[in-house]
Amino acid sequence: MRTQVGIVGAGPAGLLLSHLLHLRGIDSVVLEARGRAQIESTIRAGVLEQGTADLLTEAGVGARMKTEGAVHHGIELAFEGKRRRIDLTELTGHSITVYAQHEVLKDLVAARIAANGALLFDVSDTSLHDVDTGTPSIRFQHAGESHELQCDYVIGCDGSQGVSRAAIPQALRRDYERVFPFGWFGILVEAPPSSHELIYARHERGFALISTRSPNVQRMYFQCDPHDTVEHWSDDRIWAELHARVDSSEGEHVVEGRIFQKNIVGMRSFVSTTMQYGRLFLAGDAAHIVPPTGAKGLNLAVADVRVLTRALEAFYREGRTDLLEGYSATALKRVWRAEHFSYWMTRMLHRLDDASPFEQQLQIAELEHVTTSRAASTALAENYVGAVAV
Ligand code: DHB
Repeated sequence: MRTQVGIVGAGPAGLLLSHLLHLRGIDSVVLEARGRAQIESTIRAGVLEQGTADLLTEAGVGARMKTEGAVHHGIELAFEGKRRRIDLTELTGHSITVYAQHEVLKDLVAARIAANGALLFDVSDTSLHDVDTGTPSIRFQHAGESHELQCDYVIGCDGSQGVSRAAIPQALRRDYERVFPFGWFGILVEAPPSSHELIYARHERGFALISTRSPNVQRMYFQCDPHDTVEHWSDDRIWAELHARVDSSEGEHVVEGRIFQKNIVGMRSFVSTTMQYGRLFLAGDAAHIVPPTGAKGLNLAVADVRVLTRALEAFYREGRTDLLEGYSATALKRVWRAEHFSYWMTRMLHRLDDASPFEQQLQIAELEHVTTSRAASTALAENYVGAVAV
């Protein structure tokens, strides 16, 4: 088996890369350890930066996003019983689209299949070979048989637990990590929206976020102990917590409904450098993780893929390798920008158990500043919509 670009992982990074390469006449094969039904139902965040939404549209996979997603022009920050709006569009000229990540995945899978793209699910025992030579290969098992895929380049899009990152020798790598001592409890609810925009709330009891999926389905989160289990949380207890953290003193309140999904996610920041070794390049979660505050994970994966597509296109069209050589350095600028933003939003909005009363007052002072100073609101808004120079 031979292809030009071997891609490990059919998440947003792997599928989008395969699709963008196809549009440029470059062949790829995507190998995925999980099944199609599993990747299409895994619940993740739902905020697309305008650049992400525009790229999906340009690539011809934005039709359902356009009809089922919702364009938002602002977000709300809730603290001290009040709500303050950040007008993203007025401050930056950009908007965001609220459309769930697994819906993006369904659209990408459908596009790859419609184009007869090579996309293998339920692959096991994947290993990378000779990535530091001109003839790299990927070995794997599929449908009970062993295969070897020879390629020009190998792209590791297999997430933080995948095999790709480990193929870069430890001696050449430096990892940076920060684990947060809290998680997010997430629910999906059958209810009308509580607000027409997302609400990020800071409360002494902890952070909460009100997001949306459709006119009938809402997504909500609240800060919890990462070691807690969903069985400890009855619906009544969840609603009491959300009301306490999000309801405003002016009478705005969270709208309850039937909870049909509950999960707990851990929170960490992680960056692995370098993102390339020989003919292996990492993209998305394989190289970096952000805490969910601000929903940068998918957007960052898309940003990596954009840089990589341009570099691979320059190689196949013009024989240039300079963009490939500069990939890691180019991608890491945006990665660190997003890492800082996600960390900053996380620290500003969460209950930090090691924070003194003094530091808690600083959180409030920062929220006051960010919601009253045009300069400070603009900085938040530029980062949130992804329209930030790096
Ligand atoms: C969602 C998730 C986020 O992490 C965020 O910052 C905003 C929205 C969501 O799942 O809708």
